[in-house]
Amino acid sequence: MKIIRSIPEMQTVSRNLHNDTKKIGLVPTMGALHDGHLSLLHKAQQHSDVSVMSIFVNPTQFGPSEDFNQYPRPFEEDCKKAEEHGCDILFVPYAKEVYPDTHMTYVSVENLTETLEGASRPGHFRGVTTIVLKLFTMVTPDIAVFGRKDAQQAIVIRRMVTDLNLPVELIIADTIREKDGLAISSRNSYLTDAERIAVPVIYKGLSRAQEEYNRGERHAEKLLQLIGTTYNDTKLIKTEYIAIVDAETLRPVDVLTGTTLIAVACRTTQSHTRLIDNIVLGGHL
Ligand code: PAJ
Repeated sequence: MKIIRSIPEMQTVSRNLHNDTKKIGLVPTMGALHDGHLSLLHKAQQHSDVSVMSIFVNPTQFGPSEDFNQYPRPFEEDCKKAEEHGCDILFVPYAKEVYPDTHMTYVSVENLTETLEGASRPGHFRGVTTIVLKLFTMVTPDIAVFGRKDAQQAIVIRRMVTDLNLPVELIIADTIREKDGLAISSRNSYLTDAERIAVPVIYKGLSRAQEEYNRGERHAEKLLQLIGTTYNDTKLIKTEYIAIVDAETLRPVDVLTGTTLIAVACRTTQSHTRLIDNIVLGGHL
């Protein structure tokens, strides 16, 4: 595995790969690699000749009171995991090169970014779309893989790719879960022992909604109630939102007809960890 830190070097390597007609697959991450990230790497490998995983804890997508400084950065372990899983290039750009003091350009997707995560985290998606577009110009991938775990992020990035005619094919990969259903996340490491035992309820609520949907329930209100009641069973999580929205427009739906996203965000009450999860019904992203 080659580790590249300089942006011009990454661009030269990519240009040479394209000249050799190699297909480049990119997996953007913020590191603290877990099985979710590694599953995206495997997807990228299936759909490309050369896999590039990027690690960059992107300051512009964190709010002032968020966990940018606290965010885990186990670089040596990450290198080992990426290499063990057959990553060809680990791209770890320097923050000073990505955002020099003179940096002034941002890209924002409108409408889709004010709701759900955007409502709780103002400016978050502007930071995400800016860094993803920058990574696309640094790596020039043919395909890029994102996780459905961050469904709104994937939907917003897809909008950007379409609207800006970016020549990259997106793949949206399934959420990888622990045995008890908890969606794997770098932030799970913040949880207290008691919280860790309680938080599988997040997916349990979503699974109950999925079961009711499979039995024919199509009223959003009924499904919202069911999830809300499930979450009220534990005092260790506080619900930030439970939303049932159209998977393309992210507008709330009353009756589930097309492809629908049920997205939830909670905060735990001891370590104040913010966790998100979702399911997609009646189609896929
Ligand atoms: P990060 O949280 O590190 O996630 C990197 C990618 O891994 C994202 O596409 C995310 O959806 C995916 N992912 C996370 N947990 C997953 C799981 N349990 N199963 C499957 N995929 C999972 O998302 C970001 O970083 C950043 O916003 C980024 C896109 C890199 C821009 O900075």
